[in-house]
Amino acid sequence: MATARKTTAAPTLTDPVSPDLKRFLRALADEREADPTGQAGKKMAREAASIATYREGVTAASAGTWTLGDLTVNRMGFGAMRLTANPDGTPSDRDRAITVLRRAVELGVNHIDTAAFYFSALRSANELINRTLSPYPDDLVIVTKVGPGRDPSGTWLPLARPDQLRGQVEENLRQLGRDHLDVVNLRQHGLDSIAEHFGALAELRAAGLIRHLGISNVRAPHLAQAQQLAPVVCVQNPYGLDHRRETDDFLRLCGEQGVAFVPFFAIAGARREAGGVAGGDTDAVLTVARRHGATPAQVRLAWTLHRGPHVLAIPGTGDPDHLVDNVAAGALRLSAADLALLDPVHPT
Ligand SMILES: NC(=O)c1ccc[n+]([C@@H]2O[C@H](COP(=O)([O-])OP(=O)(O)OC[C@H]3O[C@@H](n4cnc5c(N)ncnc54)[C@H](OP(=O)(O)O)[C@@H]3O)[C@@H](O)[C@H]2O)c1
Repeated sequence: MATARKTTAAPTLTDPVSPDLKRFLRALADEREADPTGQAGKKMAREAASIATYREGVTAASAGTWTLGDLTVNRMGFGAMRLTANPDGTPSDRDRAITVLRRAVELGVNHIDTAAFYFSALRSANELINRTLSPYPDDLVIVTKVGPGRDPSGTWLPLARPDQLRGQVEENLRQLGRDHLDVVNLRQHGLDSIAEHFGALAELRAAGLIRHLGISNVRAPHLAQAQQLAPVVCVQNPYGLDHRRETDDFLRLCGEQGVAFVPFFAIAGARREAGGVAGGDTDAVLTVARRHGATPAQVRLAWTLHRGPHVLAIPGTGDPDHLVDNVAAGALRLSAADLALLDPVHPT
């Protein structure tokens, strides 16, 4: 029983680039032509993104909005998984993580993805969000997920049983300092039917602990099973330019049903948890990036947003500069020629 959920506004695909920035970007293109992987080019790309973002008023709203149930979010959001640890697994710098969260909200991000199981030895994503952002802005939508769990030392536990999901929801409530959660995804693994698990969450929704429900790491039959029990506002699955192409049909199905499709690993692709930018040397991506004075990560994010107005981005980063780049990617307009060039990287 899917209910209709629509964009409140078509994505506003305006060009935020001023003549000054255009001159800058032309210089950047020349620089990159001469030295495509050099530090100078990378630094200029970052500065260009900052200029576009701050001076030209690019915000997370630049790619338009979508409504999750009755909650409107900017399509460019933020994933909190990378806030708690450095790439080598050591705990992140606390002030840097707080800077990323503050800057995200300053730039208009109002959709943050998190989980109680996003923690390192010294940092917890939920605690950082609570400490930095509460009292929460009225328009901020925090999406969390339950199902997986880790013991206090960080060791992964088996998927929660349905009767354990209430405890996981309450753990998120405590850590975030809320009395209800905006959106909770059931993150499943290895289940043919998610009915029992999703049914347990539907009861918590009816009890007022959760406003809206989503599902994660799922296939089309799982969506149908869940929709028998309660409305589903979002599906969160791995997907990107050269990652999980077989997901295209499911992505389209979600759009037809008014369900948001929220890809993760849109930048990292098959590198998954290892992080970094997938296929940084892919010719087509580099060519499109050069045309726009953008980075490959920005092109990858922009490409996912071009898959449909119901596709939301939740790029994960612990780097304040990458955060600015990612928000700026919401204003990156890929032309038909760009998309045609990228097509072979994503054959259907
Ligand atoms: N439902 C699920 O099962 C599930 C699973 C995984 C993740 N998620 C959620 O989805 C979010 C996104 O996934 P993700 O963080 O794993 O992958 P991602 O967004 O595809 O990529 C993150 C990686 O790319 C780097 N990066 C980010 N922006 C960049 C930029 N502009 N330029 C260069 N590198 C950049 C990050 O490193 P830096 O920190 O150095 O920027 C990090 O290594 C997560 O944060 C999490 O909230 C959900």
